[in-house]
Amino acid sequence: MKSFVNHPARILVTSALPYANGPIHIGHLVEYIQTDIWVRFQKLSGRRCVYVCADDTHGTAIMISARKAGISEEAFIARVNEEHQRDFAGFQIQFDNYGSTNCPENRELCGIFWKKLRDAGLIKEKSINQLYDVTAGTFLADRFVKGTCPVCKSPNQYGDNCDKCTATYTPADLIDPVSTLSGTKPEIRSATHLFVELEKLHGFLHDWTQSGEHLQSEVANYLKGHFLGDELRDWDVSRPAPYFGFEIPDSPGNYWYVWFDAPIGYIASTWQWCKTHGEQLADWWQSADCEVHHFIGKDIQYFHTLFWPGMLKTAGYNLPEQVHIHGFLTVGGEKMSKSKGTFVRAATFLKHLDPAALRYYYASKLGPRLDDLDLNPDEFIDKVNSDLVGKVVNLASRTAKFVLEKGLSEKYPDDGGLFAQGAAAGAAIAEAYQNCDFARATRLIMELADRANPYIDTQAPWKLAKDPAKASDVRDVCTVGLNLFRQLVVYLTPILPKLAEEVGQLLNEPITGWEQSQQPLIGSKIQPYAHLFKRVEKKDFEAMIEEEKVAAAAIEAANAPASTAPAAAPQDTAAALEAEPLLTEQISIDDFTKVDLRVARVLEASEVPEAKKLLKLKLSMGGGVERQVFAGIKAAYKPEQLVGRLVIMVANLAPRQMKFGLSEGMVTACGPGGAEVFLLALDEGATPGMRVH
Ligand code: MSP
Ligand code: ZN
Repeated sequence: MKSFVNHPARILVTSALPYANGPIHIGHLVEYIQTDIWVRFQKLSGRRCVYVCADDTHGTAIMISARKAGISEEAFIARVNEEHQRDFAGFQIQFDNYGSTNCPENRELCGIFWKKLRDAGLIKEKSINQLYDVTAGTFLADRFVKGTCPVCKSPNQYGDNCDKCTATYTPADLIDPVSTLSGTKPEIRSATHLFVELEKLHGFLHDWTQSGEHLQSEVANYLKGHFLGDELRDWDVSRPAPYFGFEIPDSPGNYWYVWFDAPIGYIASTWQWCKTHGEQLADWWQSADCEVHHFIGKDIQYFHTLFWPGMLKTAGYNLPEQVHIHGFLTVGGEKMSKSKGTFVRAATFLKHLDPAALRYYYASKLGPRLDDLDLNPDEFIDKVNSDLVGKVVNLASRTAKFVLEKGLSEKYPDDGGLFAQGAAAGAAIAEAYQNCDFARATRLIMELADRANPYIDTQAPWKLAKDPAKASDVRDVCTVGLNLFRQLVVYLTPILPKLAEEVGQLLNEPITGWEQSQQPLIGSKIQPYAHLFKRVEKKDFEAMIEEEKVAAAAIEAANAPASTAPAAAPQDTAAALEAEPLLTEQISIDDFTKVDLRVARVLEASEVPEAKKLLKLKLSMGGGVERQVFAGIKAAYKPEQLVGRLVIMVANLAPRQMKFGLSEGMVTACGPGGAEVFLLALDEGATPGMRVH
């Protein structure tokens, strides 16, 4: 596939398929923004490029989440799919197709891959022991088991490794294992699993990963050092029922493991796009004229650099030309944390800040290597304001109004070579984009801005404009200013598509191609200048973090077993379900005191006829303060049992407008749910309004 003189006829690009059991957050966005910038750069450069993605919908975690939400898996993933697409659109991430791994195309392709693997003699059966949760009726994936580390004896460790002593083991080795699904002790059961004998592809995988063409060098070295030096382990690709996924046609009762069907989802999503665009799938996945580029995070490199190439090779599909791997996001130098409010969901970000600011900031931090990148609040605000407002948009806001009447000069004025220098820099900027070195691209673009601004400062069109004799000078200076501005915006288009669109309108010529950076625009009329970019304010950033903190506290409370919180609204469900049952991160006393728990007396209780689970309560908080709360306790309590009793409520939960009225708090309870819900009771003497601490 290296035979192209310049560029391939087609480029197919993917981002990793986000799990359908949680919301998109700013960590994910590193990847989707990175990929989107690269794709937009290809398209702007006139290449035929298609960007596909999909939700990764199968597996135990999603099965459990759907169960907890009390809906079918299909309904659950449909809801999340809608939320994901809405979030991505909000950040101007433009997929050509966004699908789901739970689609007929994917099932069919899985069958095709499976048959090829069987025919190649790569599938074998083995019986293995696994922990089984009798109460929940399911085998347990490693992350659903906790217990005491067999090595250092630290309690509360996951089923696969110990975060105290870093020992790795299997869940069956844990001392006193407990299922996090039901809290019961799991038993060991054996089941037949199907395996891919990866070792049979060792030679191919060694050559492909080590060729120097497809992987970043540190990735190739890591694979060589950690995996390829030894025999490759058989890969377990099946799971026994119950499992949400595709049943294996020639092995009834067994399902393809989610990591088997997920990457095939890349092809399925492409196929869907082909069907709606009159294209042939083979032209995109089985053709020497197409380059496939995957973008993924470093946590999933193993799947994409060993299993996946092995599957593609065996099934006769294109191998990726490149797997571009990025590092992880930290916020303020630390891992994203729900309780600290730094686990910022895409939707929350959009409520407070401009998505373009994040696109630009990430671009300025993303290089071609695997380093983690840090979202530092002060740096974020500084960088965006000083670059985008201070250096870029400022060029237009200081010049546009002076040429509104006459338009740009008919002939491009003498600018001392500034435009030509900018045009010449285009090749290096393009190369930086192509190599995923967006940090370098933005640096080069800002260097040009740093030359353009002094020109405007010195020429000071606002002064010239006061002298009627200098009218033509003003026009010339502003023509230069706006052209230097436009040149920067063309270069920034992959990062800031919305700005590019608005500038296209301002200058009466849409920005559609990279080559527009090479020729100045002359003679055209322009539109009145409208605000292009608003400064990022620290208080908005802080409000966003605060909102996440409060949400995390509420979700934590709602997630305590059998909460009586009003059935979570759709946009909160996924987030609520992301937190693992029984596993909560440690919090400080300050975090705890943020939740204002109060004693309240039930004054009135009534059924909500339209809601299966809810009772409407009127609560007295003491001192004449009353609150209305909807509680999901209808199956457990009759309204008349409640009137007069004391309950404990979360008093500072943000009020929520529900279909049936406003819910102004939450009543606390425990138990698995349904009829088994138990309100917390108070000892004699407590009175409404008292605080719980
Ligand atoms: N479902 C799998 C991918 C299957 S691809 C066939 C998965 N999903 S994920 O939702 O957990 O992650 C999606 C992508 O986002 C991954 O590439 C992952 O590395 C990336 N990120 C998730 N959290 C991230 C950060 N905090 N920082 C940077 N990237 C992150 O993995
Ligand atoms: Zn340990």
